[in-house]
Amino acid sequence: MGYEQRMREKANALRERGSARILAVESSCDETAIAIVENGRVERANAIASQIDVHQLYGGVVPEIASRMHVEALDPLLDEALKQADCGMDDIDAVAVTYGPGLVGALLTGVSWAKAFAYGRDLPLIPVNHIEGHVSANYVAHPDLEPPFVCLVASGGHSHIVNVNQYGHYELLGGTTDDAAGEAFDKVARVLDIPYPGGPLLDRLADEGNDHAYRFPKPHTEGKYDFSFSGLKTAVINQAHNLRQQGKEIVAKDWAASFRRCVVDILVEKTLMAALDTGAKQVAIAGGVAANSLLRSELERRGARAGLSVFIPPKRLCTDNAVMIGAAAYYRLLAGDLAGLNLNALPSLNMF
Ligand code: KG4
Ligand code: ZN
Repeated sequence: MGYEQRMREKANALRERGSARILAVESSCDETAIAIVENGRVERANAIASQIDVHQLYGGVVPEIASRMHVEALDPLLDEALKQADCGMDDIDAVAVTYGPGLVGALLTGVSWAKAFAYGRDLPLIPVNHIEGHVSANYVAHPDLEPPFVCLVASGGHSHIVNVNQYGHYELLGGTTDDAAGEAFDKVARVLDIPYPGGPLLDRLADEGNDHAYRFPKPHTEGKYDFSFSGLKTAVINQAHNLRQQGKEIVAKDWAASFRRCVVDILVEKTLMAALDTGAKQVAIAGGVAANSLLRSELERRGARAGLSVFIPPKRLCTDNAVMIGAAAYYRLLAGDLAGLNLNALPSLNMF
């Protein structure tokens, strides 16, 4: 019997048993991560090697460097993950890997590693979409959460409002028509000389500032639940340059606070509008920008006021990690969605 036929049988056996311990690999951008997750809900290990300090030297992610560092990090992370979970390779039931979207070279390192591991250990291989992974971080953070719910996914490369109808079934309600929210945070942070990635540091600086100090334009979008951050980002950056040319220094903490307020108001308003219009009872957030402290507190406050149950994962599960990939993978396994050894990296993989 060939590998693929054998894996279908192994996956069927796991489905019938109703439990699986999945080893998950994430390498789509600048974090290498290996996690071990049980039944899509229980985090047994979460090993991460961040490359941020290296890319910081260049002001952004350098794809070739990212790929090389992933290759070096993967084997030691496996040892660390097994140690954290206090288990051996024989205790792993399946392997999951992010195969897109992301940087092609970076994705390929994880995909090749996961394929070799799956083949070598004779285990099923489960392909996971990175964005689906972000949404699924909520399953680990909130063991009782089940679809349907509306989820805002805001990361460095993507901003979507998604209706999660069932496990693995997603309907796109709205999204950015240009820049992602995280990208806007990072680019505006550069004007304030905040190193890459600017989002988390801008967030901290904004905590000390006055968010009414500066006024920025609210972008217009055609779609009711769509965002546009490019115009806002350009307006904010131009305004800073103009003020500086007039010899006026901007107050960085107030600038950061006013910008953060603007972005968060847009994200929260549109997400809640989409949730209420579609009759959702539950709303969640995901992605690196979901680590933003104002976004978290505003969604909590305004969501509860609108009568919604609000689900917010801990910050460490919002930014890139492999736990979220292991969570998504369990539901892919239940749906019988396996990859063969011809699995490829798909840098523009779509979820809808
Ligand atoms: O999901 P993620 O870790 O990687 C991608 O899939 O892109 O998201 C990274 C993005 C970066 O743009 C980063 O600046 C932003 O999330 N981010 C934040 C915060 N923490 C991370 N943006 C605003 N406030 C934060 N606290
Ligand atoms: Zn991400």
